[in-house]
Amino acid sequence: MATALIVLAAGKGTRMKSDMPKVLHPIASAPMLAHAIRAGAALDPERIIVVAGHGADAVGKAAMEFDPRAQIVLQEEQLGTAHAVAQATTALQGFSGDAVILYGDTPFVTPDTLTRMAEARKTSDVVVLGFEAADPGRYGRLIMAGTALERIVEFKDANDEERSVTFCNSGIIMADAARLMDLVSRVTNENAAGEYYLTDIVALARADGLSATAISCDESETLGINSRAELAAAEAAFQDRARAEALENGTTLLAPDTVFFALDTVIGRDTVIEQNVVFGLGVTVETGAHIRAFSHIEDAHIARGSVVGPFARVRGGTELSENVKIGNFVEVKNAQLEEGVKVNHLSYVGDAHIGQATNVGAGTITCNYDGVLKHRTTVGERAFIGSNTMLVAPVSVGDEAMTASGSVITKDVEPGALALARGQQVNKPGLARKMMTLLKAKKKKREQETG
Ligand code: UD1
Ligand code: CA
Repeated sequence: MATALIVLAAGKGTRMKSDMPKVLHPIASAPMLAHAIRAGAALDPERIIVVAGHGADAVGKAAMEFDPRAQIVLQEEQLGTAHAVAQATTALQGFSGDAVILYGDTPFVTPDTLTRMAEARKTSDVVVLGFEAADPGRYGRLIMAGTALERIVEFKDANDEERSVTFCNSGIIMADAARLMDLVSRVTNENAAGEYYLTDIVALARADGLSATAISCDESETLGINSRAELAAAEAAFQDRARAEALENGTTLLAPDTVFFALDTVIGRDTVIEQNVVFGLGVTVETGAHIRAFSHIEDAHIARGSVVGPFARVRGGTELSENVKIGNFVEVKNAQLEEGVKVNHLSYVGDAHIGQATNVGAGTITCNYDGVLKHRTTVGERAFIGSNTMLVAPVSVGDEAMTASGSVITKDVEPGALALARGQQVNKPGLARKMMTLLKAKKKKREQETG
């Protein structure tokens, strides 16, 4: 069944006390909004429609950055959830299949739950995701008759009997897209809040002779974020789950509580992650790698058997092939390091390609930035870059070449050559002792003068 996601994200999020739209506040390094889109990916959506209002430009930009297929539709005034869904009408033209309503501020719905909803859709025209609420508070209540969902009543409009129901509406709804658009177009705002309630579509559908049901998920999946405290709690909940999953999948975490994952981090089996490691977006670590303590890694692919850290920083566009070693106080950015490369101490390697089995000595720096433009450095295979070499890009060093330590390399080095680019050393016999004697005499004289 073809699926379209409709992600509601027009609300302001007043309680965040922020200039940034609520749905852009990050959880696990990704805007909150991205979490719902990622869960929806389980349904292999043909269209992804994001309904934006407050900060629509920024919301649209973030959504498209996360998934280039995202289409943004504007809801200028927030007149209610049915009104928000109705804004997707034009964007749905020419689409036939199911629509799934998701929420930019409800990040934790699981792919599994959405798949179960799709399954239930085979026998029901409208499927709503519900949950047993520990504290039903102001949630909409699902009024069931057996397995059939009769209607949803909002807290404000509910009588005492309805309020005593604990099976609550998560807001997530699945139905045929054309049917859904027809239903939302018929919703009115004659209710306690004066809003167009999406929840009203259930009673409308039933009155049309359509069927509706609710499936249940754990309350933790329906967690909505409205404040900074809830944002912090959501981050903690995400990290707890990610750590448990990593352990479950065969990754060793020496101190799980100190390791922080991003939404899309992928770690292979038998990889060891030491204490205090932070992953940003876009990291894949293959099998049997070792990430040592206090390393910060983002947007990188680390192949099997590589060792990173302690105290390493691996930045965007980095590719470490098998058995690469990145040691302490080394920063790597937008660089491809081939099999067996070693950069063990105190280096910056940026905008570079380093051939296999090359050793990069301590303190080596690729001088990639001239103040305006960035330039590339290429080092061949089995080369030896002496300690404290400055590689002034654009520059290349050939296979099996060497650079003398302390060299400032500004010209290409041919394969097999030794490049020496530093001041000549001159030794003056006896001069050190002579200078010391002179200096000590000078000091003594000064002490006598000042008494
Ligand atoms: C809604 C449901 C309620 C459910 C609860 C779960 C309705 C009428 N009620 O209530 O049954 O228990 O969610 O959290 O749907 N939004 C827009 N445009 C609008 C209005 C809302 O984009 O015009 C977005 C908001 O930014 C928010 C989401 O839709 O992300 C839900 O809206 P909100 O006003 O918070 O609905 P609730 O009152 O919580
Ligand atoms: Ca809400």
